[in-house]
Amino acid sequence: MTRHFLSLMDCTPKELRMLVERAVTLKAILRRREPHEYLRGSSLALIFEKSSTRTRVSFEAGITQLGGNSMFLAPAELQLGRGEPLEDTARVISRMVDAIVIRTHEHAKLVAFAAHSRVPVINALTDRFHPCQLLADMQTYFEHRGDIAGRTVAWIGDGNNVCQSWINAARQFGFTLRIATPAGYGPDPEILSAAGDAARPVASPQEAATGADLVVTDTWASMGQEAEKEVRARAFQGFCVDSRLMEIAAPDALFMHCLPAYRGVEVASDVIDGPRSVVWDEAENRLHAQKALLEFLLA
Ligand code: CP
Ligand code: NVA
Repeated sequence: MTRHFLSLMDCTPKELRMLVERAVTLKAILRRREPHEYLRGSSLALIFEKSSTRTRVSFEAGITQLGGNSMFLAPAELQLGRGEPLEDTARVISRMVDAIVIRTHEHAKLVAFAAHSRVPVINALTDRFHPCQLLADMQTYFEHRGDIAGRTVAWIGDGNNVCQSWINAARQFGFTLRIATPAGYGPDPEILSAAGDAARPVASPQEAATGADLVVTDTWASMGQEAEKEVRARAFQGFCVDSRLMEIAAPDALFMHCLPAYRGVEVASDVIDGPRSVVWDEAENRLHAQKALLEFLLA
């Protein structure tokens, strides 16, 4: 059976931990400039319906470092853009490459594509989940603070795709996630309830942040929600992660953001550019974590 990576729930907790450990090892190998062409000759197709800096560059650089190659396929340039069915596109491309990385709006489209693909399909972000981001974020926490199991994480902001992957991460890695969002902007109740005690909504950003080991946020208006930007900015007043919120977190609390970030909106400049922020490590670790994922799915 072809293994796909559509959400963190496609792996066991043990496999996810192994991926994080392998990512740390691959990072060290790259730092030593040792050749590591473990996937020589492999081809990766990237189909991105939305913009990307980190995800695209990390997959393209990653597969190159592993000895393979990538092709970036803008949907408008594929026959997909002229109405060729998604399922047919999946059947065809998956007969030619070794894995397919997709960034799209509706998660259901990704699931349909994977159902017709002979090779692993990787979720590079949908409206529902962003699991590759969480592999990098888990690696980053482990590198700075050790095991995240038993820790408390505060999500402050929109209950979006990244938040929903943090909920899955809480289940899979054994930490507690406190979620503070404005009313009406919470995560999908099904995803939340499936997490049981691992994730729970709280009444305010202050309640989420108090004593937390890690504070996380993301943009208030995700890709595709540009028209809602102003309405959202009003609804999210009081949810900016600023130094007052960081002060009530644990003394050694870290700050994460998947990026791109909007300074002065969801996060204050002195937080994202301050000493507790590990956002550049998170961004770099996209490379190492996804190389571990590619090895796992392809080797
Ligand atoms: N964090 C993240 O996925 O960034 P990009 O949109 O730049 O890929
Ligand atoms: N929630 C954001 C994440 C970007 C990496 C979005 O979907 O646009």
